[in-house]
Amino acid sequence: MGRWARMICSLFLLLQVLVEPAENSDFYLTGDYLLGGLFSLHANVKGTVHLNYLQVPKCKEYEMKVLGYNLMQAMRFAVEEINNHSSLLPGVLLGYEMVDVCYISNNVQPVLYFLAQKDYFLPIQEDYSSYVPRVVAVIGPDNSESVVTVANFLSLFLLPQITYSAISDQLRNKHRFPALLRTMPSADHHVEAIAQLMLHFRWNWIVVLVSSDDYGRDNGQRLSERLTGRDICIAFQESLPAPQPNQVATPEEHSRLGAIVDKLQQSTARVVVVFSPDLALHNFFREVLRRNFTGVVWIASESWAIDPVLHSFTELRHAGTFLAVTTQSVPIPGFSEFRVRRWQAGPPSGRNSQGSTCNQECDECFNTTKSFNTILTLSGERVVYGVYSAVYAVAHALHSLLGCGETNCTKEVVYPWQLLKEIWKVNFTLLGHQIIFDHEGDMAMPLDIIQWQWNMSQSPFQSIASYYPAQRQLKNISYISWHTPNNTVPVSMCSKSCQPGQRKKPVGTHSCCFECIDCLPGTFLNQTADEYDCQSCPNNKWSHRSGTSCFRRRLAFLEWHEAPTIIVAMLAALGFFSTLAIMVIFWRHFQTPMVRSAGGPMCFLMLTPLLVAYMVVPVYVGSPTVSTCLCRQTLFPICFTICISCITVRSFQIVCIFKMASRLPRAYSYWVRYHGPYVSVGFITALKVATVVGILLTTSPNPTTRADPDDPQIMILSCNPNFRGLLLFSTGLDLALSVVGFSFAYMGKELPTNYNEAKFITLSMTFYFTSSVSLCTFMSVYSGVLVTIMDLLVTVLNLLAISLGYFGPKCYMILFYPERNTQAYFNSMIQGYTMRKD
Ligand SMILES: *[C@@H]1O[C@H](CO)[C@@H](O)[C@H](O)[C@H]1NC(C)=O
Ligand SMILES: *[C@@H]1O[C@H](CO)[C@@H](O)[C@H](O)[C@H]1NC(C)=O
Ligand SMILES: *[C@@H]1O[C@H](CO)[C@@H](O)[C@H](O)[C@H]1NC(C)=O
Ligand SMILES: *[C@@H]1O[C@H](CO)[C@@H](O)[C@H](O)[C@H]1NC(C)=O
Ligand SMILES: *[C@@H]1O[C@H](CO)[C@@H](O)[C@H](O)[C@H]1NC(C)=O
Ligand SMILES: *[C@@H]1O[C@H](CO)[C@@H](O)[C@H](O)[C@H]1NC(C)=O
Ligand SMILES: *[C@@H]1O[C@H](CO)[C@@H](O)[C@H](O)[C@H]1NC(C)=O
Ligand SMILES: *[C@@H]1O[C@H](CO)[C@@H](O)[C@H](O)[C@H]1NC(C)=O
Ligand SMILES: *[C@@H]1O[C@H](CO)[C@@H](O)[C@H](O)[C@H]1NC(C)=O
Repeated sequence: MGRWARMICSLFLLLQVLVEPAENSDFYLTGDYLLGGLFSLHANVKGTVHLNYLQVPKCKEYEMKVLGYNLMQAMRFAVEEINNHSSLLPGVLLGYEMVDVCYISNNVQPVLYFLAQKDYFLPIQEDYSSYVPRVVAVIGPDNSESVVTVANFLSLFLLPQITYSAISDQLRNKHRFPALLRTMPSADHHVEAIAQLMLHFRWNWIVVLVSSDDYGRDNGQRLSERLTGRDICIAFQESLPAPQPNQVATPEEHSRLGAIVDKLQQSTARVVVVFSPDLALHNFFREVLRRNFTGVVWIASESWAIDPVLHSFTELRHAGTFLAVTTQSVPIPGFSEFRVRRWQAGPPSGRNSQGSTCNQECDECFNTTKSFNTILTLSGERVVYGVYSAVYAVAHALHSLLGCGETNCTKEVVYPWQLLKEIWKVNFTLLGHQIIFDHEGDMAMPLDIIQWQWNMSQSPFQSIASYYPAQRQLKNISYISWHTPNNTVPVSMCSKSCQPGQRKKPVGTHSCCFECIDCLPGTFLNQTADEYDCQSCPNNKWSHRSGTSCFRRRLAFLEWHEAPTIIVAMLAALGFFSTLAIMVIFWRHFQTPMVRSAGGPMCFLMLTPLLVAYMVVPVYVGSPTVSTCLCRQTLFPICFTICISCITVRSFQIVCIFKMASRLPRAYSYWVRYHGPYVSVGFITALKVATVVGILLTTSPNPTTRADPDDPQIMILSCNPNFRGLLLFSTGLDLALSVVGFSFAYMGKELPTNYNEAKFITLSMTFYFTSSVSLCTFMSVYSGVLVTIMDLLVTVLNLLAISLGYFGPKCYMILFYPERNTQAYFNSMIQGYTMRKD
């Protein structure tokens, strides 16, 4: 800092060069405290370098900006109003110095002028805290680029700067710009409002045109950031060429603009967002009109939202619907008249006039603005209110800094940093709006979405919706007259949204472009979870084609009212009653040779399980439960095994007992002594029970559901099929028994007819064998309710085969041929047999 200290009181020669403003101009008003005003009265975009000759830019030769002059008038109006109404600053006269910054060409000179003291010298000091520059605060400039330049100077002095229309988000950084405030919401809110507008009208396929400068790039970038994650896609983004200073389009510019319009024409996007200063758009819209390009919704950024010059291209009304984002209109009484009031010569200011400066003069401004007066009046005070409130904010800060009472203020020296502190604290109501700066120095003025209109009986910028920065919400969207036939809302979508139950199949790289594909039956689309994939229904559910949810499948099982069930039940009843009858008949004729030859007591051992088996047939009908499954899978096999083993043992006895008696007498005596038949039956039954219990222990008998392969809407409720698979293994025992029984019976086919059960045993065993094998085959290829029916039918038929096939003929003999049921007849038969054999 020592270096700076040594340089104290050095002077900027540059400032000497600054030419004195003319006396009594629009740009200058003497006062106790001066406000600096920076406005763009002329404009030209950067990037125009004369390569063949060097020329100091002449602001005067640039295009005049009507809006800039309008804003300058707003500042003059505000100061005059404050001076007129002495309650705010009684006894204090506010003055101003206003300079044309020429958009971005002329920022530095005015700032140095503002910072310098009355003697045009800007001393270099170590500490500026007790330095009093020419102005106490600066209002403006209008665009972010100039604001940054100016703010870089003013930060060192903590000289308050309030901008009225620069929206850049970087200005919120209070470490970089400690002395900068604004009466405008930041770009973040502007972009958010645009994004919400798109969401509201369901536009998800848009084009972004940006100017080739920071303004265009920053905001284009911000918009694309804001749109990602909201399912809005940018079809393409193009940068508009920077125009020439004189607005004459060069051939390159012409072809570039033509290419852009071509691309717009070919695109399916019907919404075009344009972030660009108004200047860069004149040639573009001329090209649009030349091509008769129409049918697009143009969305204007705040930079050209209410530009009366562009609006005066009345042919634009055929180019589509123009919407724009800008600040809310706040009517300022008296301003319209003030704007076109001729400046009147006031008292001499006492400034030593050495000539005029190009930055404080604008001869044509007044007349041009006057010619636009109608549209300016109709469009309302939007940005104008930003200037107006900025001046009032400074006045209120001065009010509290000077300790103003009802009638007087202390006219003490005001240091900029003191005023800055007060400006941060202001909180007052101005024309119905609360003027208060948030911690980032922004004022949360509501934004309006406006529609351009060319019907001069209405406002050219009709408000159609409002955006409230505090709530970050777009509200009160009202009637819009679209350019479309029948006034329907224009559609700008890459792909039409899918019907419910259709999944999106991406096409290309944009998430907004997709095909819609129906979800297959059995799958459904949960839109909240995933739009791109159909999810499978849970096991017990099913969905129709393009389903959004699954329904429970209908459960299928055997029911009483079905024909197969009734048939089987009737068969079972027949079996039951016939078995019961057989039992009674056998009991009545227990001592007859016929019953004894049939097995005697062993007959009852066969008949009882048969009866039990018939009785439990109903467990096959109705919805399976654990107990009915247990019954089906244990009781039936065991009953059946007892029967089969009895038959097998019986046929073994008939065929082999004689041979065993003669050839193996010892074995025969053991067989007789230890009740061989019963032991065998008991052993086989025990084996079967062990198998069944073993299976029970390894698998659960719970009912399970399976999809019907023929009709996916149906779930088959059945006993555990795994269990059944294992049961096939245990059925192997029965099969083996039946094969053995069949063999014995076949061997005994030569026996006397009254012993000859071979025919019937052969029959029932063959039937059992074939039916079991075909049932297994059937079950392995088919699974459905039919399996249960077949299973039951085969079981009942097998039982019937035993009941009627084995016992039936014997009962017939007992009842109808009692003469053959005698010991004598039996003996004669055996003798006859032995003789034949010999
Ligand atoms: C200020 O007062 C003068 C004189 O009374 C009047 O002509 C002028 O319109 C007033 N200005 C404003 C902005 O109120
Ligand atoms: C635009 O329309 C006008 C009149 O309707 C016509 O003369 C002109 O050729 C059209 N221009 C183009 C590029 O189609
Ligand atoms: C503005 O218009 C007035 C009256 O119409 C005229 O006298 C004056 O010369 C014009 N000024 C300029 C700079 O054209
Ligand atoms: C205002 O004037 C009154 C007397 O007229 C005086 O008492 C008071 O101190 C003054 N206030 C200020 C702030 O100058
Ligand atoms: C501003 O003033 C209003 C009314 O005077 C008050 O309700 C509000 O709390 C104030 N806001 C702040 C931040 O002080
Ligand atoms: C202009 O507005 C008036 C009133 O709102 C309406 O009656 C008239 O039809 C409009 N004209 C056009 C050309 O839209
Ligand atoms: C917006 O709508 C709400 C109610 O829907 C209403 O209270 C409010 O006044 C409206 N605001 C504007 C600016 O139209
Ligand atoms: C406009 O509306 C009419 C009647 O409602 C209808 O017949 C016609 O098809 C619509 N035209 C268009 C372009 O939608
Ligand atoms: C869809 O997915 C969401 C989130 O994953 C979940 O909360 C919701 O329950 C699902 N809806 C259906 C019908 O599955």
